[in-house]
Amino acid sequence: MAFKIGLLGLGTVGTGTAEIILNPAGRHSLLKEIAIHRVGVRSLDKPRGIQLPPQAMTTDLEAIVTDPEIDIVVELLGGLEPARSLILKAISAGKHVVTANKAAIARYGDEIYSAANAAGVYVLLEAAVGGGIPVIKPLKQSLGANRIASIIGIVNGTTNYILTQMTTAGADFDEVLAEAQKLGYAEADPTADVDGLDAADKIAILASLGFGGRVKRENVYCEGIRQVSAVDINYADKLGFVIKLLAIAKGSGGYESDTLQLRVHPTLIPKTHPLASINGVFNAILVEGDPLGQVMFFGPGAGAGPTASAVVSDIMNIVGILKSSGKTQFLDPLLTCTHQHYCTI
Ligand code: HSE
Repeated sequence: MAFKIGLLGLGTVGTGTAEIILNPAGRHSLLKEIAIHRVGVRSLDKPRGIQLPPQAMTTDLEAIVTDPEIDIVVELLGGLEPARSLILKAISAGKHVVTANKAAIARYGDEIYSAANAAGVYVLLEAAVGGGIPVIKPLKQSLGANRIASIIGIVNGTTNYILTQMTTAGADFDEVLAEAQKLGYAEADPTADVDGLDAADKIAILASLGFGGRVKRENVYCEGIRQVSAVDINYADKLGFVIKLLAIAKGSGGYESDTLQLRVHPTLIPKTHPLASINGVFNAILVEGDPLGQVMFFGPGAGAGPTASAVVSDIMNIVGILKSSGKTQFLDPLLTCTHQHYCTI
């Protein structure tokens, strides 16, 4: 019996998600047990990059979140409403939820997680920060022993792509933004990228995980890259710096921090800094904690494939838990690898 998915949204990430689910060959066997049951879209007439049975498609998004046959609702609409209401309705109908929605989680995370805890369902959001980079789960589950001092990241692929092209190719801001939109990196309204709002959502989420949940999105200082000119980039270069849009969270004492700095702004960083060489659509998040020291998460930060990788992995994690009733993790079979030869990279 397959686990049934209700997909809300069939844009760039929704299409990438459906493509992975429909092509399980060579991937973990658990993927074969996942079926797309219904897909909610705003318009049935819009041409799509993927073929799904017409009877699975609907514009009635509420019908999906309350469909008794659906196990997991995957919210890929983006934006605040109707995404927030639909997530809450799905939770109260007993559905697990996977979302890539940083804007809604940064603002309504408390409300959504209280509802999920009360209903006993999972809400996973690996795709909300850093595209394909595993950072949410590691920060929550693998760095829990640390007193976090800072989280500093390049967390917006579109602006990093623009700044990189301006720096390395002397490209024009508007032209590169149009390219980033074509490549599926930018938000529906790219103002969210360019003005730093998307990065502010993401650092609010990361800071909440790293510093114990007392973070309000409206407290993030936010300045985007509109004012960065070729002249700034050239002077920075001559002085040994690059300009990056950084999202910064710094605490004075981990979970018990009296003060927390939360800011997003273009920043001069020395060319020798680990974040200085993160170019193009790539993101990186540098976390410093005690006793770990520094650890950096790096990878493709936007686009259909990378973001869908995180979405589908979250779906598989939930299915793995549902199947095993908490007894085993779905990746266990991979630990019994039988290759007996040495490999090169
Ligand atoms: N617009 C976002 C970015 C997409 O460019 O990083 C990934 O969250």
